[in-house]
Amino acid sequence: EGLQIERATTKKVKPEESKLGFGNYYTDHMFIMNYEEGKGWFNPRVIPYQPIVLDPAAKVFHYGQTIFEGLKAYRTKDGRVLLFRPEKNFLRMNRSNERLSVPELDPNKAVEALKQLIQVDQDWIPSEEGNSLYIRPYVIATQAQLGVAPSTEYMFIIIMSPVGAYYPEGVNPVKIYVESDYVRSVKGGVGEAKTAGNYAAGLKAQELAKDKGYTQVLWLDGVHRKYIEEVGSMNVFFKIGGVIHTPALSGSILDGITRNSIIHLLRHWGYEVEERAIEIGELYEASKQGKLEEAFGTGTAAVISPIGELNWQDEVLVINNGKTGELSQKLYDTLTGIQKGELEDPFGWMVQA
Ligand code: COI
Repeated sequence: EGLQIERATTKKVKPEESKLGFGNYYTDHMFIMNYEEGKGWFNPRVIPYQPIVLDPAAKVFHYGQTIFEGLKAYRTKDGRVLLFRPEKNFLRMNRSNERLSVPELDPNKAVEALKQLIQVDQDWIPSEEGNSLYIRPYVIATQAQLGVAPSTEYMFIIIMSPVGAYYPEGVNPVKIYVESDYVRSVKGGVGEAKTAGNYAAGLKAQELAKDKGYTQVLWLDGVHRKYIEEVGSMNVFFKIGGVIHTPALSGSILDGITRNSIIHLLRHWGYEVEERAIEIGELYEASKQGKLEEAFGTGTAAVISPIGELNWQDEVLVINNGKTGELSQKLYDTLTGIQKGELEDPFGWMVQA
């Protein structure tokens, strides 16, 4: 079944590139496709961006059966449109689907649909330094039925938003509050799936941290409350005595595509990268010995977000004098350089849209 395209008859006024922020504006079109049990996925279409109509009993509202992805498109100086490792997002989407009992999608068809959507809305891709087109694919359970059971109907939707920096700090260091009461997820739960509930679960602690003057929360594991998991909605890295350490994928942590790419880059540059269980206390110990050199979060939205300060049970730890570290900056410059098509792409990560 071929993809149908219905073009918008009127176009929105585009926002100024310097005022984008993150996730505030949406392009003129969206992609949508339906699923019904016995029929599979059907009716793929690009349509004008518009509200979706759902029955109030749709399962997504009640039981959170939904998953999402996040990736970006970039415009190069010579006018090409590049996507960063899009197949990885749709493969992860299927792992999230599997965990949430959502039917899987054909990753190749999903990438093709995305390319078609981008084609239609290509004049929305920002070109200024640090800006890009953020792409949000997601699946929602739409069956109007209140029994707790997997939905028999779904929608797969892709929306797109021209964005600037995720944090107002940009690539400047953020202050992080180490959360000791609330947890984001536990092994065996849905922590490694990209599903709404993980983000809803984090809001309370994030709000409390904000009130205390911190940008984000560092999550500890739900069992021992001492092993580092994620920071905000990002994976996290530490440079200790020249070696890079990051929490191993334990089942409760998101398998970040930026995380994977950073590990790849670092090893390519000859760094030793250890994926392991990292205790929060270790960082304070390493800092006392003068060995904690840098800390940073990684994610699609913010790319690299250096950490300038941690607060764990009121003990403040300043990292690299609260400044962006040399390695954090080099990783940011390299990754965004590859993504914008300005640096060589040694791993074949970029895909032309
Ligand atoms: C990220 O890109 O780092 C994310 O986790 C997406 C965020 C906006 C939820």
